[in-house]
Amino acid sequence: MQYAPTDKIEMTYGQFPYIRGRRLRTSASMRNMVAEHHLKTADFIAPVFVMEGENKKLEIPSMPDYYRYTLDRLLDEVGELQEVGIRSVLIFAKVPDEKKDNKGTEALNPDGLMQRTVSAIKEEFPEILVMTDVAMDPYSSYGHDGIVKDGEILNDESVEVLAKMAVSHAEAGVDMVAPSDMMDGRIGAMRKALDEAGFKHTGIMAYSAKYASSYYGPFRDALDSAPGFGDKKTYQMDPRNVKEGIKEARLDEQEGADIVMVKPGLPYMDVIRAVKENVSVPVSVYNVSGEYAMIKAASAKGWLNEEEAMMEALVGFKRAGADLIATYFAKQASKLLNKQ
Ligand code: PBG
Repeated sequence: MQYAPTDKIEMTYGQFPYIRGRRLRTSASMRNMVAEHHLKTADFIAPVFVMEGENKKLEIPSMPDYYRYTLDRLLDEVGELQEVGIRSVLIFAKVPDEKKDNKGTEALNPDGLMQRTVSAIKEEFPEILVMTDVAMDPYSSYGHDGIVKDGEILNDESVEVLAKMAVSHAEAGVDMVAPSDMMDGRIGAMRKALDEAGFKHTGIMAYSAKYASSYYGPFRDALDSAPGFGDKKTYQMDPRNVKEGIKEARLDEQEGADIVMVKPGLPYMDVIRAVKENVSVPVSVYNVSGEYAMIKAASAKGWLNEEEAMMEALVGFKRAGADLIATYFAKQASKLLNKQ
């Protein structure tokens, strides 16, 4: 984006007291009139957690006011999300330990929880865009995003499973798959597998610049998906890098991603901007569990104003260049926007 150079402004208008920036901040109406960025409910993607069972809703201890639902109760929740104006959900399934193995076999079960959830939401709420997390970690006995062999996370073998997972979700009726694994070449493999299976219109939102972040902690509690050994640094990105994020996003765009994502959000605002300027597809950001937990915890202590801190963070993503925001604040923020 090109901003007007200040020397030009000085030449045209002179200086203080003629220039007074505060004129544009005198009233709420004035501030609203000149605001450069706006949030709307359609910007949000609401992540949802589903678990096996019936008629249960469990709060996630490290994510206050956020719940894991059984499918029946999740449908009520999706109804509420639709009611406040949210148009898309991103599904994560909690897999019981006995169904986990090294190859993520359960992920391909046509009657698996993820597949059943997709079909049920599409049937009851045809206008809701359904996205699914495509990654092996919730299904992996090692809690890793790929098949493990001798302590290594295998790339190409894992990509084969991920491509099959994408097709399985497409068969269940998903609108977009969202691979969050960071294996090399998975977007191209998924696009090819989806097309060959006849799912030419099933989209891909790629987690392209996904960093090895400590801010995923609460999410791993929610899904019980923390890595059993080591960390994810051989596949998720190094927080010290930004050019690498551009490279990953551009590769994913070339391989056929319809949307690229930067994740986490708040510590990576510069990456959002850099990616936005280097791709032609929409850019989404994932305002992750740890960022949610920080605002919730500090607000609970009375150290932050929760609503203000939330809205400031969310509009910050738009300012940085994000088109879409996946956030656990989706419902709360939408309710607030509807009041304005
Ligand atoms: C797993 C996945 C993670 C998140 C989304 N998908 C965790 C991880 O990579 O370990 C994190 C989301 C969050 O923290 O809100 N593939």
